[in-house]
Amino acid sequence: MSSNPAIPEALAGALRDCQSMCVLTGSGISAESGVPTFRDAQEGLWAEYDPQELATPEAFLRDPELVWNWYRWRRRRVAEAKPNPAHLALTEFAARIPAFSLITQNVDGLHQRAGSSNVIEFHGNLFQTRCFAESCSLNVDNVDDDTSNLPRCPSCGSLARPGVVWFGEAIPPSALESAMIAASNCDMFLSIGTSSVVWPAAGLIDVAMRHGAVTVEINPNPTMESCRVAFQLAGKAGQLLPALVSLNAKGF
Ligand code: OAD
Repeated sequence: MSSNPAIPEALAGALRDCQSMCVLTGSGISAESGVPTFRDAQEGLWAEYDPQELATPEAFLRDPELVWNWYRWRRRRVAEAKPNPAHLALTEFAARIPAFSLITQNVDGLHQRAGSSNVIEFHGNLFQTRCFAESCSLNVDNVDDDTSNLPRCPSCGSLARPGVVWFGEAIPPSALESAMIAASNCDMFLSIGTSSVVWPAAGLIDVAMRHGAVTVEINPNPTMESCRVAFQLAGKAGQLLPALVSLNAKGF
C-alpha cells in the first residue's frame, strides 16, 4: 500500500516489480540545490540575457568574452551548490534496481557529486573546456577561471570553449547511443525536472513508451508529456523521489 497520497498504488506496484529503470533528468532536479533552471529568469547581471542566445556557437564567435563570463558565473554558482535529496535518491535506485541508467541534460555535475556513476551527459559538462576549432577539439585542462583572460588551446592556439553542447550542435554520439539503448531496454522510464521541449532528449520518453516501459513524470508544472505519461507526479523532485525510493525498498 502506498502511504504517500501523491503516489498512486499502481505506481507503487510497478516500482516494486521494476528490474530495469532509465531516468532522464533536466535542470528542475537541481532547482532545490539553488541552481536556476534553464528557462527560469536569470539572476543579477544576467537577468537581461536570454540563455538561448548565449548558448550558441554564433554567440561565442560574436562575443567570446561575454559568453565566457556567463559560463564562469555559472561555474561559480554550481560550485557553491550541493546535491539535494533528489540526486541522492537516484543513487539509491542505482544500488537497488538490477539495471539502472541515468541520462542527464544537466551540465552541472551534481549527479556525480551525489555519488552517481556512469552518468550519460547528454549536453556535456560545464566544468570541461575544449578547443573551439572543430579540427582540433582537444580537451583543455587547468583553465584559470579567476582571470579575465580567455583560455586558449595549448596545441593549436585557438580560443577554448566550455565543454557543453550548444543550440544547433550535435549530441555526443556515444551519449546518444547509450541513451537510446537505455531508453529501449527499461521497464520503467522516469522523466524528472525537464520541460521536455529540447530534442533529441525530449524524444527518449517516446522510445521508452514504444518499447512498453511504464512512464513517470515528476514536475511541479505540466509539460507536453504530462497527458501522455502513465503517471504524472505533480511536485518537487526532492520530495517525491525519496518517497519513491522508500516504496521500492519495501519490495526488496
Ligand atoms: P527547463 O528550464 O526548460 O525546465 C525545467 C523544468 O523543471 C520545468 O518544467 C520546471 O517546471 C521543472 N522544475 C522546477 N523545479 C522543479 C523541482 N523542484 N522538481 C522537479 N521539477 C522542477 O530545463 P530543461 O528541461 O533541463 O540544453 O532544459 C533542457 C535543455 O534546454 C537544457 O539542457 C539546455 C536547454 O537548451 C542545452 O543547453 C543544449
